[in-house]
Amino acid sequence: MIKILAVGDVIGRPGRQALQVGLAKVRESMTPDFIIVNGENSAGGFGITRKIFDDFINSCGVDCVTMGNHWMDKRDIYEFRDHPQIVLPANMSNVDDPAKGLRILESKSGVRVAVMNLLGKVFMKGENSCPFAMVDKMLDLTPSYVKVRLLDVHAEATSEKQGLGQYLAGRLSAVYGTHSHVPTADERILKNHTGFVTDLGMTGPYDSVIGIDPDSAVRRLRTGEKRNFEPAKNDLWFYGMLFEINEDSGACTGVHRLRFPAKDS
Ligand SMILES: [Fe+2]
Ligand SMILES: [Fe+2]
Repeated sequence: MIKILAVGDVIGRPGRQALQVGLAKVRESMTPDFIIVNGENSAGGFGITRKIFDDFINSCGVDCVTMGNHWMDKRDIYEFRDHPQIVLPANMSNVDDPAKGLRILESKSGVRVAVMNLLGKVFMKGENSCPFAMVDKMLDLTPSYVKVRLLDVHAEATSEKQGLGQYLAGRLSAVYGTHSHVPTADERILKNHTGFVTDLGMTGPYDSVIGIDPDSAVRRLRTGEKRNFEPAKNDLWFYGMLFEINEDSGACTGVHRLRFPAKDS
């Protein structure tokens, strides 16, 4: 059995602090074999930089970084977007390539792991292609000997994330949602095979509006004015899901929510 930890959208510097504290805490009580982090908001709330990516991989021990609609918000991503440990949303109009949304990596225990990233279409900006068709293309590219397969569905609508979960039930080891920055309490195993949760929730400041400073977010909602639109600072929490997966069959046998305050003590 292999234990894979998926961590929800890391929000700016407060989120990075929460990630560091949270991962240290997780390692005290369990030993994840493979760690996936959603990094699309890790640089000031929008995008990712090379330095932050390197810190995730080298300092935090993250194995793979998935992205989302903010993948290109910081310019230096263009220099490392083909890095083998970063996964772009395959069906986003400025990616549109199944190979860029799929990475095949190896866990600490030597098990091959396929990680995929897709965007939803419902309530999402841009002319992104159909996620259902795109995930089929990504599965066609995945060698049959790679049994452990996970998908980060980066989408707004809960219905679309659940639709993809049902569409992929029995074919992937885990399907989990990101992007809303709000956790859902519906983790379960579909068709005795596919670990599922509609949204992981964010790792970052919860005294906020989906991670953003509450005063600036409320001002923007009321007046449309976008000023000081940056991550909030208070009430840091770590949110993720631990999937236990049989490496021979690829079936998920356990889904465990990880949720705790992540402040340096
Ligand atoms: Fe996000
Ligand atoms: Fe997003």
